[in-house]
Amino acid sequence: MQTVLRAPADSQLGDIHEVVRRAFGSETEADLVDLLRQRGNSRFEAVAMVGERVVGHIVASPIELVPAPGAVLPDLAALGIAPLSVVPELQGQGIGGLLMHRLIDAARHARFDALFLLGHPGYYPRFGFARSQVGNEYGATDAFMSLELTEKCLAGLQATARYVSAFGEVGA
Ligand SMILES: CC(C)(COP(=O)(O)OP(=O)(O)OC[C@H]1O[C@@H](n2cnc3c(N)ncnc32)[C@H](O)[C@@H]1OP(=O)(O)O)[C@@H](O)C(=O)NCCC(=O)NCCS
Repeated sequence: MQTVLRAPADSQLGDIHEVVRRAFGSETEADLVDLLRQRGNSRFEAVAMVGERVVGHIVASPIELVPAPGAVLPDLAALGIAPLSVVPELQGQGIGGLLMHRLIDAARHARFDALFLLGHPGYYPRFGFARSQVGNEYGATDAFMSLELTEKCLAGLQATARYVSAFGEVGA
């Protein structure tokens, strides 16, 4: 089975919605992907294809770092990866890993400083993510993780990471 990664074509938007819906077993994340795109918030969106079939998808969106009262932050460019989806019947075969590596490489190449995500602490450390010292809006602890693309850029940062409003609007 050969998996090819590429930027999504307009003709694949319905297929992507279906992949995300099936991966999560809910419309919420699929609606989120549609809304991120409509709002111009999607960054480094990619699909995984097996033959002509879309089997996986990843997208990132801007993260605002909101300083704690009295704190002054350096100017950092950050993204949140969400959602990441692989169709249920092809999970566990490395497709999610390919998509993660592609997005991390693209963000590094574009000189983003940091990536954030909310996910399973058993999966994302393999890509270099670790529990983030930056706060989040979800009250998450181990599940809120970050990866510094600029060395130590998040060290000691007194801030909360805020996702774009589409997340709250769909209830993600
Ligand atoms: C999470 C997901 C994207 C991973 O993609 P994938 O192609 O199945 O993952 P890979 O094949 O690259 O990696 C498989 C590894 O991830 C682990 N893994 C997958 N999902 C996991 C989870 N929710 N928790 C912990 N580990 C998980 C597997 O156990 C496996 O571990 P191993 O390599 O040590 O055996 C996919 O399982 C999925 O779409 N899940 C449903 C949606 C979801 O939860 N998305 C992530 C939150 S945004």
